[in-house]
Amino acid sequence: MPDTFYITTPIYYVNGEPHLGSTYTTTLADALARYHRLYGQDSRFLTGTDEHGDKVALMAAANDETPQQLADRVSGAFRAMWPRFDIAPDDFIRTTEERHKRVVQEILQKVYDAGDIYFGEYGGLYCVGCERFYTEKELVDGRCPQHGTVPQYIAEQNYFFRMGRYQEWLIGLLTEKPDLVRPEQYRRELLAFLREPLDDLCISRPKSRLTWGITLPFDENYVTYVWFDALINYVSALDYPDGDLYQRYWPSAQHLVAKDILKPHGIYWPCMVQAAGIPVYQHLNVHGYWTIGGFKGGKSDRSELQEAERQEALRLFRDPLALSGLLGVDGMRYCLLREMAFGNDLDFTRDLLVTRYNADLAHDLGNGANRAVSMINRYCGGVIPEPGQEFDVDRDLRDAAAAAPARVWAHVEAMEPSLALAEAIGLAQRVNRYLEDKKPWTAFKNGDIEGVGTTLYYAAETLGIAASLLLPAMPAKMTELRGALGLGAQPPSASGGWGYLDPGTPVAREARLFPTIERDSAAS
Ligand code: MSP
Repeated sequence: MPDTFYITTPIYYVNGEPHLGSTYTTTLADALARYHRLYGQDSRFLTGTDEHGDKVALMAAANDETPQQLADRVSGAFRAMWPRFDIAPDDFIRTTEERHKRVVQEILQKVYDAGDIYFGEYGGLYCVGCERFYTEKELVDGRCPQHGTVPQYIAEQNYFFRMGRYQEWLIGLLTEKPDLVRPEQYRRELLAFLREPLDDLCISRPKSRLTWGITLPFDENYVTYVWFDALINYVSALDYPDGDLYQRYWPSAQHLVAKDILKPHGIYWPCMVQAAGIPVYQHLNVHGYWTIGGFKGGKSDRSELQEAERQEALRLFRDPLALSGLLGVDGMRYCLLREMAFGNDLDFTRDLLVTRYNADLAHDLGNGANRAVSMINRYCGGVIPEPGQEFDVDRDLRDAAAAAPARVWAHVEAMEPSLALAEAIGLAQRVNRYLEDKKPWTAFKNGDIEGVGTTLYYAAETLGIAASLLLPAMPAKMTELRGALGLGAQPPSASGGWGYLDPGTPVAREARLFPTIERDSAAS
């Protein structure tokens, strides 16, 4: 395995603005890129926008704009939104860019030349929302299972990718590499799907029906089906096939998506790359939905929640800036990543995140840090004290702190972000218990200055390690905490070990990082 890490988000459709769902995925990708960097890997993070297809063309027409105007406007909104959450992608790709179109055409030509694309006729039920054909069996009461709309019957001549050829190969791959798609429930879902014969994939749209797309290199009367176009962003952004970026990062590629787009990523994309002679990604990481009252993005108004609570949840779901106004940017990042067990759905309410924020950030980490810093000011002249003799209770804390980086990393590698954060915040919880046990205020009264020094050194050192391990989730606040402990320019302590704090280094006067949030106060 190369010492690189390449993480991608889905490229978002430009027919809607960023919301909590896309913000969660993109925040997680950002935190993962930062974790891998913290642990010494050369990491790269890609996001972007998916701009072709029926949906965008229809919406632009409804808005009296050209598709390009719509794409420019909404893509710009996504690009401008991410930095507001301290999300720092290394690249932002748009499917209307030349660098992307060129690669799509190159891959199409390659697959065509290899004999895996043919011309044929197809009639089927088409959902514009999903931009794909459905079989009768997949519909629920004759309606699209995602959108609840009745699909249109469309019959036309088109180009097809011989995906069916790759069925056995893909079953073999999913069987031999059990963590290719994770968590396990999604690998099982794909294998269940592959028990039925795999149809070939229609990969074109006639220009008589849709012009907003990338022209097929071998027939100018057709544009490329939007999914065949969009998936290729993951390699076009690396300047496939000759770019240094491609050589460097593709071997470590991992995708991050929600379960709505499991099939294109778990079936179409591996078959496409195999046909084009490109190695398959290392992992497809699939998370669940944030729901409101049990429905994705609050799509239904059936709900058991109180109406006011549901309205508030919807408001915050649609306006992640309001959520960051409530919790702070770092608070929002932490709570989203900590609260959702990767792979499962989670019902979103304001209270869910506020409760998490108050418990973990305001109380455990915030109070813990402020207590330690205040006591260092009160009992040690405002500088990191010299540690003295170590007893069992001190050694236990040191062992836990020194072991934490490896434990956090194991969860990061296993794509268990909420457990990685639980492990890191667990150190702050331990520090609070340790201070209660050791009672440095009593030791100070009794004149045990060496004992006070040991306790406060151990507490501050453990908090410094916790801050480093939480940096990827909370870059600004944890930099602030490290600074308050006098850890400014030193390398973050992710390699294990102990003793990063130098006795004699001044600490801040106080560390008020996370003010408590009233459970019922209105979001700003
Ligand atoms: N354009 C395609 C993706 C092409 S990738 C080659 C697309 N775009 S999308 O705008 O619909 O974004 C879907 C993604 O947004 C999900 O996979 C997920 O990352 C995120 N989410 C959208 N709603 C969400 C929730 N309610 N909950 C969690 N994630 C959500 O599909």
